[in-house]
Amino acid sequence: MSLYSEKVMDHFRNPRNVGVIENPDGVGEVGNMKCGDIMKIYLKIENGIIADVKFETFGCGSAIASSSMATELIKGKPLSEALTLTNKAVAEALDGLPAYKMHCSVLAEEAIRAAIKDYYDKNGIAYDPKDFPEHGHEEEA
Ligand code: FES
Repeated sequence: MSLYSEKVMDHFRNPRNVGVIENPDGVGEVGNMKCGDIMKIYLKIENGIIADVKFETFGCGSAIASSSMATELIKGKPLSEALTLTNKAVAEALDGLPAYKMHCSVLAEEAIRAAIKDYYDKNGIAYDPKDFPEHGHEEEA
């Protein structure tokens, strides 16, 4: 039996929504210090709806599959709904990830959150800081 589900392999081999959005309304970039993987999410937002989303992931297969699935799950959805997307939901939608690969799905949740925060910040939209917990970013030397 394979370690990875069919869905993980499918989204890894044929990732959806790969690329860059020119003049995005929000961008979120996060990384995992341990494995060094980086994920960047671009959002196009119209009337509070995610009209388009693209990603660039420099990382492992599970991170690519997680980005692909996460972007599919939020495309066309209101921002309020995208904010409720958890890494567990991403992993479940992929029919599971091995326990030691769960952190790859966390990157997807964090990158989406960071992109939405960027959009709110740029447009002076008020938000509940609880929706955007700090994740120990890598600013310190
Ligand atoms: Fe780090 Fe997958 S091994 S994101």
